Amino acid sequence: MKVQSLLTLFTFAVVSQAAVIVPGATWTDTSGNVIQAHGGGILRVGSTFYWFGEDKAHNSGSFRAVSCYTSSDLATWARQNDALTPVSGTSISSSNIVERPKVIFNKANSEYVMWFHSDTSNYGAAQVGVATAKTPCGPYSFKSSFQPLGAQSRDMGIYQDDDGSAYLLYASDNNQNFKISKLDSNYYNVANQASSIQGATLEAPGIVKRNGVYYLFGSHTSGWDPNPNKFFTSSSLSGKWSSEADIAPQNTRTYFSQNTFDIPISNDFAIYMGDRWRPSLLGSSRYIWYPLSWSSGSPKIVAADVWTLDLSAGTYTAATGTTYEAEKAAISGSAKTMSGSGFSGSSAVGYLGKGGSVTFTVQGAGKAQWVALYYANADSTWRNTTISANGGASVLVDQPNTGGGTVVLSVPVKLNLNSGSNTITVSANQNNYAADLDKIVVYTAT
Ligand SMILES: *[C@@H]1O[C@H](CO)[C@@H](O)[C@H](O)[C@H]1NC(C)=O
Repeated sequence: MKVQSLLTLFTFAVVSQAAVIVPGATWTDTSGNVIQAHGGGILRVGSTFYWFGEDKAHNSGSFRAVSCYTSSDLATWARQNDALTPVSGTSISSSNIVERPKVIFNKANSEYVMWFHSDTSNYGAAQVGVATAKTPCGPYSFKSSFQPLGAQSRDMGIYQDDDGSAYLLYASDNNQNFKISKLDSNYYNVANQASSIQGATLEAPGIVKRNGVYYLFGSHTSGWDPNPNKFFTSSSLSGKWSSEADIAPQNTRTYFSQNTFDIPISNDFAIYMGDRWRPSLLGSSRYIWYPLSWSSGSPKIVAADVWTLDLSAGTYTAATGTTYEAEKAAISGSAKTMSGSGFSGSSAVGYLGKGGSVTFTVQGAGKAQWVALYYANADSTWRNTTISANGGASVLVDQPNTGGGTVVLSVPVKLNLNSGSNTITVSANQNNYAADLDKIVVYTAT
């Protein structure tokens, strides 16, 4: 196992071509399996990144494993051994909840320490759990679960400062008050409360430090449903926090995602790591990672459908694509154009599915290409649409609800396109209504 993982890492180091990051696509690992690392966190050891998260392949909230993936480019991930697995008769048995695992390295003890939200199936225990290992992926030995300083802790994160001091960031007191408590020198427990934001109803936190300022990111509490995630600033983790501000347009509900961790990359940007939760099919929840740019002075998500990361230069590039408006494509059957202020050109095509479809003529580059569908789904539940290129096999694309009105979000799909002219048909041969389609964007980056 060890030898194999080293070889895998070596291969990635040699292949230096930037891999693309496509938020919301089905991300697979180097073995072709769907990545299961929800509510995740990143640990960097030298030039290797470790992604720890919840394995929800069994589509249930109960604990199956904390997975461990490695990468040298944050885009290509190899699955390693499970970092933590259930221990029967303890608070991390397979009927318990283990969520949001975060790992930090304790230099003094030469030890990796994992913290996670540890709970009973009805979230009544509201504890944190701690486990340790001598290697990044472990396997970790479970130490204990407890309520930090005797108070509840649900959705949480861990932040390690430059000086090695580490902090638990957690939703406490029935998710009403948000607290930051300093860990002890072993990182086995919390020592004292550093600060709190009373009445914040904040969860899913992460912190990035930039120019001596701490940026705290998090969501509000709306169960599995997304909400507008926020940031707060402070010059000290034990100081007073600013009032909240947005990292994305509010009506997008953070592009249907919830923060789980934020990776500092350069002075210009960090990476926002979000989860697009799908509670009815938890293992099909998707990862929404975007550049979080300070170019406007405060951190804002750059909602790139397709983007690349150059870690050595400390830069990102949002791919550019070609836009094709749905209302200008060939509209068939019962589909019709509709207007709405949220649509580009104030127009979209509705009544797709159940006999309505739309066919675009697009230019292709003779390869598998990412296509983003911009749509509005005002239902309270997800819709989906079929899509096919050049009359080929049709693919089903999920269309999460976009929050009402004509709020538009995008979802990606990969299609094989010919060099030159192609047809792309959306919503043919389906018995349910698809979302209203605003436009598609065809990308060449792969
Ligand atoms: C597609 O969406 C419809 C609701 O519009 C739903 O009933 C159906 O189960 C979905 N299909 C899949 C495969 O998710």
